[in-house]
Amino acid sequence: MALKIERTDARAWPDEQLKELFSEGFPEFISADRLVKEYIGRVREWFACLDLMLVDEHEVPVAAGWGVPIHWDGLTGTLPTGYSQALVRAVEGRERGTEANTLVICGAVVTPSLKGRGLAGEILKALRRTAEEAGLVRIVVPVRPTMKAQYPLTPIESFMRWSREDGMALDPWIRTHQRLGAEILAAAPASQTMTGRVAEWERWTGMVFPESGDYVIPQGLTVLRVDRSADRGVYSEPNIWMRHN
Ligand SMILES: CC(C)(COP(=O)(O)OP(=O)(O)OC[C@H]1O[C@@H](n2cnc3c(N)ncnc32)[C@H](O)[C@@H]1OP(=O)(O)O)[C@@H](O)C(=O)NCCC(=O)NCCS
Repeated sequence: MALKIERTDARAWPDEQLKELFSEGFPEFISADRLVKEYIGRVREWFACLDLMLVDEHEVPVAAGWGVPIHWDGLTGTLPTGYSQALVRAVEGRERGTEANTLVICGAVVTPSLKGRGLAGEILKALRRTAEEAGLVRIVVPVRPTMKAQYPLTPIESFMRWSREDGMALDPWIRTHQRLGAEILAAAPASQTMTGRVAEWERWTGMVFPESGDYVIPQGLTVLRVDRSADRGVYSEPNIWMRHN
């Protein structure tokens, strides 16, 4: 398969192609992060050069990946708390005129029929090349471990240490980064915080939450905390910081 890389804003992609690409990507509640809602417009406008598509020989997008530039001193303790804070740091850094030196890879998705063939690695490599060209010397990723949804009760600090007999991580998405030479830096226990009314959470999850308490939800990497008296559900998504060399 002949593949090429293009900026996502290079052309208007047909809706049905984008629908297919993202059809098995993320749960509906992923977009309930207020901080992301506040900053994503400026992210899209200002950092479009770090938003890429992998396109096949029929001009169909088969993978996508994007990131933001931040200033980071290379110390684990000064990393953003996770994905949302990375967006905030990128936008506010640019507003202050701070020179960025680090790419934060924020997400990647591969079209369902082509998963498991290394396309994610291709889009990650393209993002790394783009970062290098832009003078971003460090690359970090708040990884959303895809297998964590099967272990929502396990603390992220334990999950990130789980490995196979060959020494590679148990989680397949962590393994993709490891194959590209990335190492685990730290847990990001509250990388994103999604909030909503109880009825919204019931719609997003297809479940009913009759009383206050913690609930395991479909595709949730941890539990949803429901407070019926406040009509509120809060889900703090754990990620894992990895660094590419
Ligand atoms: C996570 C994702 C980007 C990985 O893309 P990919 O191109 O399939 O990645 P790889 O080819 O490197 O495969 C990674 C591992 O996943 C395994 N895998 C996971 N789902 C698979 C599937 N449906 N078919 C085949 N292999 C799959 C592969 O076997 C491989 O394991 P290995 O280390 O034993 O070889 C892709 O599964 C995806 O789009 N998921 C939905 C969005 C998402 O969760 N993105 C990550 C968070 S931003």
